[in-house]
Amino acid sequence: MESLRTPTAPPAPVGGFGVVAPSSDDPDWWRNAVVYQIYVRSFADGDGDGTGDLAGVRSRLEYLRDLGVDAIWFTPWYASPLADGGYDVADYRAINPAFGTLSEAEALIREALELGIRTIIDVVPNHVSDHHPWFTAALAAGPGSAERERFWFRDGGGPHGDEMPTKWVSDFQGETWTRTQNPDGSPGQWYLHLFTPEQPDLNWTHPDVKQEFHDVLKFWFDRGVGGVRIDSAALLVKDETLPEVPERPGPGQHPTVDRDELHDIYRGWRAVADSYPGSRSLVGELWLPDIQRFAKYLRRDELHTAFNFDFMARPWDAIELRRSIDTTLAAHAPVRAPATWVLSNHDVTRPVTRYGRHDSSFAFPAKRFGIPTDLVLGTRRARAAALLAAALPGSLYVYQGDELGLPEAENIPLDRIQDPMHFRSNGIDPGRDGCRVPLPWRGSNSGFGFGPDGADKPWLPQPKDWRLLTVEQQESDPESMLRLYRDMLRLRRVIAPPGADAFHWLAAEDGVLAFSRGDRFVHLTNLSRHPVELPQHERVLLSSAPLIDGMLPADSSVWLRTLSRQAGDAAVA
Ligand code: NOJ
Repeated sequence: MESLRTPTAPPAPVGGFGVVAPSSDDPDWWRNAVVYQIYVRSFADGDGDGTGDLAGVRSRLEYLRDLGVDAIWFTPWYASPLADGGYDVADYRAINPAFGTLSEAEALIREALELGIRTIIDVVPNHVSDHHPWFTAALAAGPGSAERERFWFRDGGGPHGDEMPTKWVSDFQGETWTRTQNPDGSPGQWYLHLFTPEQPDLNWTHPDVKQEFHDVLKFWFDRGVGGVRIDSAALLVKDETLPEVPERPGPGQHPTVDRDELHDIYRGWRAVADSYPGSRSLVGELWLPDIQRFAKYLRRDELHTAFNFDFMARPWDAIELRRSIDTTLAAHAPVRAPATWVLSNHDVTRPVTRYGRHDSSFAFPAKRFGIPTDLVLGTRRARAAALLAAALPGSLYVYQGDELGLPEAENIPLDRIQDPMHFRSNGIDPGRDGCRVPLPWRGSNSGFGFGPDGADKPWLPQPKDWRLLTVEQQESDPESMLRLYRDMLRLRRVIAPPGADAFHWLAAEDGVLAFSRGDRFVHLTNLSRHPVELPQHERVLLSSAPLIDGMLPADSSVWLRTLSRQAGDAAVA
């Protein structure tokens, strides 16, 4: 099943560079792949019920081919009550009926492969939905049962058992334990959930849990899936003695994060992936401050890659971004793993909004309503950031809608917000719905072509001025973000062909990031406040903003074809 034909629309030749065919059967495809993230609910609505679905995605596969992506990563598409947007899975082998059917998913995987696009699915191993049959059985079976062993059920503390077993704080704020009721209505045991009560944590010391996830991987690999994104990958293992979180936990000492036993789990997953032909890649969602610990997950027999959130979280500042690039590349080199470059995803503030703020860094606790932003500046910087991320060695992630320059939708009426992060913060955190608003495709009528004509309203409201940001509008505007992304991804294949990991910083003035890849490509991002000279070059391949008298203006990036690396070096220095 895992065979790839050359896409029907190969990238156009770029003078002098020649054409490099996209991924084909390359076993190292994941090393510099462009992965497009699809938040299924909000990508395209095929059946007109206001919710995105697989029919919608299938009808837009050519859009993705033309954009130039190598793979699509679907946020969870399984049967789920959607208490956390699908990260509460009730059945890992069934598609959510609101999104479609298993046979549609199989057809989608096949059709995408025919266009040269691999499918990556999201596997959620830390927790299941409280509607998952294992959990409902555990509740029914009662204390001391074998069914409860697959989760973290514990008696409460205190004389009446009404104290939580630990005071661990949820990643979604608030408590991590919920008390159950016994069949006679009396208060029962507590169960652990690092996220919402609808997401009970699995016990990864239990053999059923390990076996089940190997089987889930095989289920999807058998259907031609090319990779797996591992949700909350650092959280699966807990300290069974349930200690409180130390004030300053040393490496591997946090009771729920980054515990050493995780590595064996992922070695097992890698063995499953490697038992398939072609490369089935594993990408971990690892939010870890210690990059050395992070890199350990990328050893040869563990995960292929992991999201580089450090780069994403940095502010628009040359020193900060350079530091992130340096530490990232240095940490990945010893394990010979490629870095990933991520500017956003379905959990964080859209780059256009973030980069237009006074504080352009990203941190979950800092999310608030009403932080001012300059969207013109933010868009300009997001264009420059896109070129920067795409020029760095490794794989690139593009979150749906970033290629349209969508800003965060910050005015969603309170009664339409769905994200549990908002509610669990008592309404202080706006939540993540603002980056999950359905995409605008065409026209100026309600829905902007998200669904067919006459479709129900999208499940989240779209800002009215998104009529200016539709795919249709942007396709006909050579200056649009979409056209920039298309040119960028087409050119990326030739500036960063497979195996071209070479990367060298070039001397440059303060506030400018300048580097070369290979002999004839130079990238510059100008984060200073004034235009800068370009190094000697043969031609400008692409720039995020028009050059001014041959100079690169502030908050812009440029890709240059140079005569040689040395020439580039000399001129920038
Ligand atoms: C990380 C996912 O990206 C996020 O959307 C989800 O809420 C949590 N993991 C819990 O599964």
